[in-house]
Amino acid sequence: MGQVRLDKLLADAGYGTRSQVRQLVRKKHVTINGEPAKGPEQKIDVDKDQIFCEGKPVFYAAYEYYMLNKPAGVVSAVTDNRDKTVVELIEDRQRRDLFPVGRLDKDTEGLLLITNDGILANRLLTPGRHVEKTYYAEVDGPVTQMDIKLFAEGLDIGEERRTLPAVLIVEESGNACSKVQLTITEGKFHQVKRMFQAVGRRVTFLKRLTMGSLTLDEALAPGEYRKLTEGEILALKKQGLST
Ligand code: URA
Repeated sequence: MGQVRLDKLLADAGYGTRSQVRQLVRKKHVTINGEPAKGPEQKIDVDKDQIFCEGKPVFYAAYEYYMLNKPAGVVSAVTDNRDKTVVELIEDRQRRDLFPVGRLDKDTEGLLLITNDGILANRLLTPGRHVEKTYYAEVDGPVTQMDIKLFAEGLDIGEERRTLPAVLIVEESGNACSKVQLTITEGKFHQVKRMFQAVGRRVTFLKRLTMGSLTLDEALAPGEYRKLTEGEILALKKQGLST
C-alpha cells in the first residue's frame, strides 16, 4: 500500500473528519513509532509504522471486503433516513467508505459484497462484462418447460431490449408454489421479479446465491457477514479482468 498522509489515514480509519483528526494530531494525541506525530501531513508507511491514537493502536486497512447474507427489511445503501442499511450491519468495519456492490431489493436476501474497492466494484457492475448472478426464487405458481425456453430466449420486461439469455432451473414446480434457480448476466432494476412477471408469475421469495466467482457462505445466517478470504478476493479480481 505504501505511504499515506496521516490525516487521511486517521479519517479513513474512522477517527473523525479531516479537520477533527488534524486537531488530534496537533494536540499530540497521536504517536508514530512512539514519538508524537510531527503533523497531519506526515507520511506514514502503513506496512511498518506503528500508530497510536490516545494510547490505542490504530488499525488501518486499505481495502476491506465483506460477504453479507443480506436479511429482508434492510436497504442496499450506505445511509438511509428511515431504514437500516447493509453497511450499518458490518459492525466490525474499520473503513468509513464501504458501500454495497450493486443493490438487492429491500425484501431480497442473500449475497451482497460490501467493500471500498471502487475499481473492483466497477468491474463487477459494468453491464458489458456480463457477470453472472444466480438467484434462488419462489414463485406463486407452476414453472414450465415453455418458461425455461422463454427465459433462455430473452423476455420483454418493458425495456428497450429484451433481457439477455438467462438459465432457469426448476427445482420444484407446483400449482401454488415453485422453487427455481435463475442465472442472469445483467442487473436491471427488479430484474428477476420483472422477468417472472413477464410470464405471469409473482416472486414471493428471492435470495441471491452467487455473484461472479463469489458464492454465499451457507454458514452465514441472514444478517451475518464475514471477511472475504484472500482466495475469494483474488478470484473476483481475476474475474473482473478477464470478463
Ligand atoms: N432482481 C430483483 O427483482 N430483485 C433483486 O433484489 C435482485 C434481482
